[in-house]
Amino acid sequence: MGRTIVVTSGKGGTGKTTASAAISSFLTAGGSRVLCIDADAGLKNLDLCLGLSDRAMLDYGDVLAGRCRLDEAVLPHPDIPGLFFLTAPVVPSEEGDEAKGFEAMVRFAAEHFDYCIIDSPAGLGPGFRAAVSAADSAIILAVQDPSSRRDSARVVMELGALGIKDVRLVVNRVRRSVFSRSKLTIDDVIDSVGAQLLGVVPEDENVAIAAAREIPLFLYGEPGRAALAFMRIARRIKGEKVPLEIK
Ligand SMILES: Nc1ncnc2c1ncn2[C@@H]1O[C@H](COP(=O)(O)OP(=O)(O)O)[C@@H](O)[C@H]1O
Ligand SMILES: [Mg+2]
Repeated sequence: MGRTIVVTSGKGGTGKTTASAAISSFLTAGGSRVLCIDADAGLKNLDLCLGLSDRAMLDYGDVLAGRCRLDEAVLPHPDIPGLFFLTAPVVPSEEGDEAKGFEAMVRFAAEHFDYCIIDSPAGLGPGFRAAVSAADSAIILAVQDPSSRRDSARVVMELGALGIKDVRLVVNRVRRSVFSRSKLTIDDVIDSVGAQLLGVVPEDENVAIAAAREIPLFLYGEPGRAALAFMRIARRIKGEKVPLEIK
């Protein structure tokens, strides 16, 4: 049985989709099979981060409605061996149906993959609850500003109420100058969010350039600082002892 991990945060724009794509790609190292699921129905964009824009013809809505089997909707990545992609419907379905069916679908998928990474929509609505329903642990993305930290703290509480106790924090888009000039530290962020730190990802223009060129960060030239940080995060998820770079 593979692990199911939801990537979430309070607000949009913290890097959930970027992180889902990059972490999924780096998790394939060593031969793992990874299914990356876009659970952001209506606002899907994980396909872009994986360089698979509009390649997936079937989405999980088709699977849930019985129009196709899961293996027909899952798209093997053409350039990243071991990585598979399941896209979201363009139009979200009714809350109850989606949450129930989604959970069962991901549990079934987890029998065939080592990791299922679920890219959650922003907010705490039905899409969030559906994404979380299928997960046994969560990665919460926060950026440095106070409103993101407060949001993330709220999401950690919500995850706890939904039965997810294994929650780890990724602080994204970190600019050292903001930390040094605001006297804020990573420890302050960890304390205010209330989750154990999984990694720190710097602000890196390669992320935006790779995204604009629709090239997965994993395949974008020499790994930049953000790609290296996501690589280390993937190794920590696999249980390797990789020192945290928080200085
Ligand atoms: N570490 C980073 N460095 C620079 N830009 C980033 C980084 N992480 C994310 N971004 C950019 O931030 C924006 C929002 O990221 P995205 O992954 O779509 O967030 P979310 O899924 O949480 O809404 C995108 O333009 C993305 O390229
Ligand atoms: Mg997103």
